[in-house]
Amino acid sequence: KLPKASKLSDISFEIEDRIKTKDEELNRVLGGGIVKGSLVLLGGEPGIGKSTLLLQLCLNLPVKSLYISGEESSKQIKMRAERIQKSNDNCFILADTSTQRIFNQINKIEPELVIVDSIQTLHTEVIESSPGSISQIRTCTAELIKYAKETNTPVLLIGHINKEGHLAGPKILEHMVDTVLQFEGDQNFIYRIVRVQKNRFGSTNELGIYEMQTNGLKQILNPSKILISNQEHNLSGTSIAATLEGMRPLMIEIQALVSTAVYGTPQRSSTGYNAKRLNMILAVLEKRAGFKLGTKDVFLNITGGINIDDPAIDLAVIAAILSSSHDIVLNYRYCFAAEIGLAGEVRPVPRLEQRIAEADKLGFEKIFIAHNTKTSKNNVQLEIIKLKSVVDLVEYLF
Ligand code: TYD
Ligand code: MG
Repeated sequence: KLPKASKLSDISFEIEDRIKTKDEELNRVLGGGIVKGSLVLLGGEPGIGKSTLLLQLCLNLPVKSLYISGEESSKQIKMRAERIQKSNDNCFILADTSTQRIFNQINKIEPELVIVDSIQTLHTEVIESSPGSISQIRTCTAELIKYAKETNTPVLLIGHINKEGHLAGPKILEHMVDTVLQFEGDQNFIYRIVRVQKNRFGSTNELGIYEMQTNGLKQILNPSKILISNQEHNLSGTSIAATLEGMRPLMIEIQALVSTAVYGTPQRSSTGYNAKRLNMILAVLEKRAGFKLGTKDVFLNITGGINIDDPAIDLAVIAAILSSSHDIVLNYRYCFAAEIGLAGEVRPVPRLEQRIAEADKLGFEKIFIAHNTKTSKNNVQLEIIKLKSVVDLVEYLF
């Protein structure tokens, strides 16, 4: 039968059927649960917790799931499950890499959710090349997509990341799947973030935050409080930025250390904040506010090992640097939300109302923002301080 075009108005619309998992972070990131028949790719560096996240998902799922691993033995997966301290009679484990044998098992078990750990380890008999090669990855993914669409079963693929931080394997993999998630974080810290790179069934602005504990990943439902470390300690060089990660407001602590360079060239080092941006900020401070930081070492750190792209943290970065350089402690009830321009001007940032609301909710006393921003003062307790340039900030704080 030949396909026939239909009028848009004649097409009936069904809200896709989703599996709601116990993991609220993952549900939100996926746009409200796992869409049946969809293919989700989860990428991330080795050791970040991909296997843990998805095994944990299966262990908490009320429906039948099949976790296929080409990387570990069933015993190793059992050990991980023991660590997570969960058991589930609906969770099946298969250690195999051949798609033909895998589909054979799938047909017997008839799972409602399939996990493949990882797509790079699979191979199909119809192709000669070795597992991990472009053609193997492409063909195995195509076989899984066909299965997912025909049976309306969602398949979650784990994907490796190459040295450049991109998903290993063909770029086409990202085009083939419905959703691409990225699992990131600094292995030396406990926080992990799931970002959405692509989602045919939801927004790419969502993000999930977890904490890696000895017994698995724990959801962080109120991230704002957690990322502010030692509020009560009065240390110079710390400031708090009212940032947004995806759609969620996040209060985050910034630490700076400014000290006289002992050896020749001063060092600049930055964790979680763009190093080029740090150099730009230092140049602005020197040129527009007269701070001679050229002979100083400057270290900048965002707590929790989280990477922040939001330019709204610029003002907090400047506040932290100046606080350290003057050795003056900033009030820990102050927070900042503005971008800094090359002329030293303080610039407005998007969705300010949301940032202000979050700061207010958490009991901050003052928020520093750009002067040319409209703010409705409706029912917030905190004081809004508007600044024109970095010089205003210096005058206000120091
Ligand atoms: P893993 O899920 O194996 O990472 P990936 O699949 O991305 O390579 O997790 C690896 C790290 O997580 C490992 O260093 C051990 C740690 N971990 C915990 O801290 N707590 C736990 O409960 C589990 C299962 C792992
Ligand atoms: Mg793994």
